[in-house]
Amino acid sequence: MNIIMLGPPGAGKGTQAKMMVDKLGIPQISTGDMLREAVREGTDLGRKAKEYMDAGKLVPDEVVIGIVKERLGQPDCDKGFILDGFPRTIPQAEALDKVLEELGRGVEYVINVAVPNEELITRLTGRRTCKQCGAMYHVVFNPPRKEGVCDKCGGELYQRDDDKEETIRQRLRVYEEQTAPLIEYYRGKGVLFDIDGTGSIGEIFEKIAKVLGA
Ligand code: AP5
Ligand code: MG
Ligand code: ZN
Repeated sequence: MNIIMLGPPGAGKGTQAKMMVDKLGIPQISTGDMLREAVREGTDLGRKAKEYMDAGKLVPDEVVIGIVKERLGQPDCDKGFILDGFPRTIPQAEALDKVLEELGRGVEYVINVAVPNEELITRLTGRRTCKQCGAMYHVVFNPPRKEGVCDKCGGELYQRDDDKEETIRQRLRVYEEQTAPLIEYYRGKGVLFDIDGTGSIGEIFEKIAKVLGA
């Protein structure tokens, strides 16, 4: 299954994608996670990407397209993949079409998760992520059993640098301008599925599983 998770910052793309990995046995490809990893490692890519990310702006298309292209060629993507946070612009979507065509494949499901802006801000300001395993929590909606500690691996929880309210608002503007046009792009291809992203994490997961017939 070749799946794209589409939706604004905080819609729950990562949360749902991680649950789908367990259910479907195909990898999550999160460009945000890959870029944050590069920032942690202090690579050239990481240094370059950090400036854009901290400003709430998109990293240039050619950079992310290169990363995804390489990742999709790896053997664990043979049975499918869940793209999370990519594509985010029309040129990225076109580049993805081209890469998949070369591999003799195509996008089958674009899951468009919609959540009102005020709720997105509440979700993102309360988000905490595990430094070790990447598990995601929310201080109110999905708290860990022990404050600041990951339930799954005992790792330390941290708050993302771009989850400050001002940066969140900038990311939401960038989403409206550059990413929202992808909704019509994929609707036109007949692969878009709209999901109401409000409600509990479990309820939303059920709706997505139904769309996928999983
Ligand atoms: P990225 O990491 O992709 O961030 P994003 O798109 O802004 O999305 P988020 O990860 O913030 O939200 P999410 O939808 O995954 O929500 P989550 O599941 O965490 O990108 C970061 C940056 O990297 C970009 O700004 C850009 O600079 C760069 N970048 C990445 N990809 C790029 C690309 N393709 N091109 C160019 N630049 C790129 O959930 C959020 C919170 O809500 C969590 O706390 C969670 O516990 C909680 N939550 C989830 N579901 C629910 C629910 N149903 N009810 C209550 N709370 C919930
Ligand atoms: Mg995410
Ligand atoms: Zn953990």
